[in-house]
Amino acid sequence: MITVVGSINLDIVATGPDLPRPGETVAGARLAMHPGGKGANQALAAKRLGAAVQMVGAVGADDMAAEALKLLEAGGVGLTHVAHINGETTGAALIAVSASGENQIVVCPGANNALRAEDVDHPPLLNLMGVLEVPVPVLLAAARRASGFVTLNLAPALPVPDELLAEADLISVNETEAAAYGARLDDCGARVAVSLGSEGAVLKRNGAEIARARPPQVTVVDTVGAGDTFTAALTVALLEGRGEADALAFAVTAGALACTRPGAQPSLPHRKDVDALLSATA
Ligand code: RIB
Repeated sequence: MITVVGSINLDIVATGPDLPRPGETVAGARLAMHPGGKGANQALAAKRLGAAVQMVGAVGADDMAAEALKLLEAGGVGLTHVAHINGETTGAALIAVSASGENQIVVCPGANNALRAEDVDHPPLLNLMGVLEVPVPVLLAAARRASGFVTLNLAPALPVPDELLAEADLISVNETEAAAYGARLDDCGARVAVSLGSEGAVLKRNGAEIARARPPQVTVVDTVGAGDTFTAALTVALLEGRGEADALAFAVTAGALACTRPGAQPSLPHRKDVDALLSATA
């Protein structure tokens, strides 16, 4: 069992030829809407990779909520602890994707920011995956109460207290986030996974590299959700007792597959596809 404490968004995606520079208008994009949010993406990714998953989070009492939750519901993620908050809008992410698959994201947190530490007092918190798109005090309360394994995806990079880092067994960040947290990640005692885009990922402890994996070559359509898939897959694999190098290879393969389809949640891979690609490229 894994419990995710994190964000639930509706992603509003414009796929066009290029990303706009400040002040620029890019015309001719295609519009799509998909369920997203780093927390919800990681919950569904872990479920599709074989774990039983509960989601703790919040949406608004609005029309976007059902749309934001529909793939979690269809995928069998437990939603008993998702609050519907009156007077708040469901979180939304405005995403621009270029022809080469790069993206820019602006997040409007809405109900995600209305989650309170009391909201994590009661849900079972066995094996926590926590994501920084909900308030830091919520994540700290959840990490302190959790039993079993604690993964923290410190994305996006924000000021966080040392007490939070000290609760983690695994911290997952990308290169930009790793640079923002700096040496604090080396000193916190957790294993730290740094995703490196098309270069794969490295796993460190106390600043020293303990594993490195390169992803299989894939045709990149859209990288949104790839980092979430990586974090979920690494957590699932470590919880299954796989060795660090094996778990990292599994995670970069799952992350690569998430880049081959558009959208966050629609692109999250299923276990059989990750296993098949892993054996084909071994
Ligand atoms: O990591 C990708 C996610 O970041 C998107 O689904 C978007 O909602 C933002 O939270």
